[in-house]
Amino acid sequence: MRDSNADDLAAMADLLTPLAIRVAATLRLADHMAAGVTTGAGLAKKVDAHPATLKKLLRYLVSRGIFRWSEEGGYEVTELGAPLLDDAPGSVRRRLSMDGLLGLAELGLVGLLHTVRTGEAGYKAAFGRDFWQDVSDVPDDANVLADEVASGLAGDGRLIVHTYDWSGVRRVMDVGGGNGTLLIELARTHPHLHGAVLDLPGMARAAAQRIERAGLGGRCEAIEGSFLDPIPPGFDVYLLSAILCDWPDDDAVKILRRCGDAAGPDGRVLVADMNLIYDDDADAARMNLLLTGTVPVPVRTLKQLKRLGAAAGLELSWEGPTTRRRTLLEFRAH
Ligand SMILES: C[S@@+](CC[C@H](N)C(=O)[O-])C[C@H]1O[C@@H](n2cnc3c(N)ncnc32)[C@H](O)[C@@H]1O
Repeated sequence: MRDSNADDLAAMADLLTPLAIRVAATLRLADHMAAGVTTGAGLAKKVDAHPATLKKLLRYLVSRGIFRWSEEGGYEVTELGAPLLDDAPGSVRRRLSMDGLLGLAELGLVGLLHTVRTGEAGYKAAFGRDFWQDVSDVPDDANVLADEVASGLAGDGRLIVHTYDWSGVRRVMDVGGGNGTLLIELARTHPHLHGAVLDLPGMARAAAQRIERAGLGGRCEAIEGSFLDPIPPGFDVYLLSAILCDWPDDDAVKILRRCGDAAGPDGRVLVADMNLIYDDDADAARMNLLLTGTVPVPVRTLKQLKRLGAAAGLELSWEGPTTRRRTLLEFRAH
């Protein structure tokens, strides 16, 4: 007799299928098939894979209905597999790619047992490397990261762009500003603003490209560096958007201190942190666990954020609205 609960549970816990799909996404197998490279040998050559093993992967994905045999004797993409095509409507290829931000984050979940035991990021425990460093090191693939982060910013970004009083600000540095999406939005909305993104090299390269493409090279720039090291001075506002939530208290205080030192007595540090802890829906439950597995993500209450500011020698000078997803706090150096 079939125990359907046991089968269902085992199917939920299956790791092979998700990984096989992600390898296909990373290697862009669907796009290569659509472009006419359909044999196992041809695909192996195209993606620089071990031919016999790639064929095993392809056969497995045929068995799962993602690819199928074509009448000409090659592989082709099925309707189910179509979202693996880069330009398909609602394509998931970039999201699943193992060299993209989100794909890398999910790989860290193999360290989930360690995370649950210790509260430490599983990614580093599993791979021995820092998640953000790996994201930054993705070779020449900055645009994948750029597109992923861009799609994630919209709603929260608007709060920062429209709620804070930017009228008296001349120069803003988006510290850990990722691909520059937020800075570009700020510069477009407030044409008097000049700004810079400071981020790890891979992200900073992505930001530089986006800034150029947006025609904002005259007012904005991207700087490669770490916010754990001294930060270039000379900006009126140092913005930390969704940064502190990735770091434990001692690092978060260090980052705030670096910003305070760079801002000096006349500058400000604007903290726009994440509030996911307040969300109670299934998506938030998933995101909270996923992030904890990737980065040590101590999402903080307003009170805790204020305490961090004080520990970094900063004084709260303005408190903005708090939404379900963001806080907005402005600090000044004492
Ligand atoms: C959660 S993302 C936030 C991106 C963006 N500020 C936003 O609001 O969407 C964290 C960012 O911090 C950057 N980052 C991580 N470690 C860093 C470091 N040591 N120095 C500078 N940037 C870093 C990452 O590359 C990434 O762009």
